[in-house]
Amino acid sequence: MTAEAAALCGRGLAQSFGGRLLYRDVNFDVAHGEVFVILGGSGCGKSTLLRQCIGLLPPSAGSVELLGCDITAAAPDALAEVLRRIGVMFQSGALFGSMTLLENVMLPLEMHTDLPLAARRRIARLKLGLVGLADSVSLLPAEVSGGMAKRAAIARALALDPPLLFLDEPSAGLDPVTSAGLDALILELRRDLGLTFVVVTHELASILAIADRCLMLDHGAQGVIASGDPRRLRDESTDPKVRGFFRREAA
Ligand SMILES: Nc1ncnc2c1ncn2[C@@H]1O[C@H](COP(=O)(O)OP(=O)(O)O)[C@@H](O)[C@H]1O
Ligand SMILES: [Mg+2]
Repeated sequence: MTAEAAALCGRGLAQSFGGRLLYRDVNFDVAHGEVFVILGGSGCGKSTLLRQCIGLLPPSAGSVELLGCDITAAAPDALAEVLRRIGVMFQSGALFGSMTLLENVMLPLEMHTDLPLAARRRIARLKLGLVGLADSVSLLPAEVSGGMAKRAAIARALALDPPLLFLDEPSAGLDPVTSAGLDALILELRRDLGLTFVVVTHELASILAIADRCLMLDHGAQGVIASGDPRRLRDESTDPKVRGFFRREAA
């Protein structure tokens, strides 16, 4: 894969906080149309790596190329331009409780476009339809299930038609059936809209269901301990930690 063809490249990424190294030497490429999963135990740096990828945290070392732009070297204008072209659902990706699902999805359109109200409304309805919430647009977040709220947050991330979506632990706290429904939605959006996904999750069933490739971080190793096709990692890895995770074996 050439650098230009990739949706996202990380090169030699490292992060330290207060002199303590979290990870170093993290390298990856995400191709357009791929579902790429970042996994690893709690506190290993998954969300930190994601924040580096979306320009919220300048890496201690290394570089990130996002949709063809080196965001670690870009001028503020160029950075803003490229960040407008990605969709993000944060780990704490709560909707605004006082706004309906429709108003939540309209928000990015209000902030980033000059579209008139009727157009913003129509687009937001379309996005909610894409995630299966056409009949729930007028409900408040407190009036819908956890799975529906996650779907609405994905619709909000889709508001500006990004080719690339970042989802941080989309199925955290959801039951297995609802979680499988979100996996199916991710694959459907990829198939129908050609979207690229970078998903942080440590749920094995989700990883096996959605990931074309994955990157496994480890706290003790201060970096990547495995990368590639999750099925191959499950079947062929000899690393005890990797086997432990993918085969549910005691490490
Ligand atoms: N801004 C920060 N300042 C200091 N420490 C941080 C900061 N962000 C994250 N950390 C620490 O880095 C580690 C990894 O955090 P995080 O990336 O959120 O892990 P994960 O998402 O894999 O659970 C944690 O120990 C966390 O406390
Ligand atoms: Mg996290």
